[in-house]
Amino acid sequence: MLLSSTQKIPEHSAIPRHLAIIMDGNGRWATRRMLPRTAGHMRGVQSVRRIVESCGKAGVKYLTLFAFSSENWRRPSDEVSLLMRLFVQALEKEVHKLEKQGVRLRVIGDLTRFDPKLQQLIKEAEAKTAHNDSLHLTIAANYGGRWDILNATQQLLKDKPELIQTPELINEETFSEYLSMAFAPEPDLFIRTGGEQRISNFLIWQLAYTELYFTDVYWPDFGAKQLDAAFEWYQGRERRFGRTSAQL
Ligand code: IPE
Ligand code: IPE
Ligand code: MG
Repeated sequence: MLLSSTQKIPEHSAIPRHLAIIMDGNGRWATRRMLPRTAGHMRGVQSVRRIVESCGKAGVKYLTLFAFSSENWRRPSDEVSLLMRLFVQALEKEVHKLEKQGVRLRVIGDLTRFDPKLQQLIKEAEAKTAHNDSLHLTIAANYGGRWDILNATQQLLKDKPELIQTPELINEETFSEYLSMAFAPEPDLFIRTGGEQRISNFLIWQLAYTELYFTDVYWPDFGAKQLDAAFEWYQGRERRFGRTSAQL
């Protein structure tokens, strides 16, 4: 299952096997319309629905969405509570649909900081969709790439304390088994909406060789047409993984 871009070259196809998205720009979308930022987050949920559907149709196998970063707790408490409520609502309302659509849902991140009710809903949603395999939808919540790497290190050493004596035995493959995306190949395509060109502590390990696509479109305005444009751009990339063009 594991495929490290620095070792094996993943097969290139017109549609990315794994797409990772930073859904950014909800707040600015709303502010532009003289609406509260929360209105943008509500519209953002509709975009998630649309993109999950489009990715399913297009044949994307893994879709990973950044919903809440470990740094987003720094926002005003009203906004954080609304985001949590939207998360709960979406889980309550959408899981049945996802289950029917063949979507397997996973949530990655440090979930211990969430309300126990939300943690329980997440567990149930993951269990309900665990038999599905057509689209693997992963929501990153209270996620941070640095947390992921530290957490993997801690889990690895807990699991195999003997490695302290032989650290040279730790390699990319054994290490990445402990990362939260261990079940998926690395992202082929990354999209960030909202105009910023940064990774904001998303999948920093896994994005090592991912094609990075940035668009000014705010997340609530991002739909099938914008997704197609990103796929078209992706098709034009030459993925070399360190080699020369002539070697491909
Ligand atoms: C992304 O939109 C959603 C989350 C981070 C939860 P923002 O809320 O960051 O929107 P902007 O960047 O302020 O416009
Ligand atoms: C990144 O967006 C996190 C999510 C989309 C969930 P932010 O809006 O929080 O990122 P910065 O702070 O502008 O880098
Ligand atoms: Mg933002």
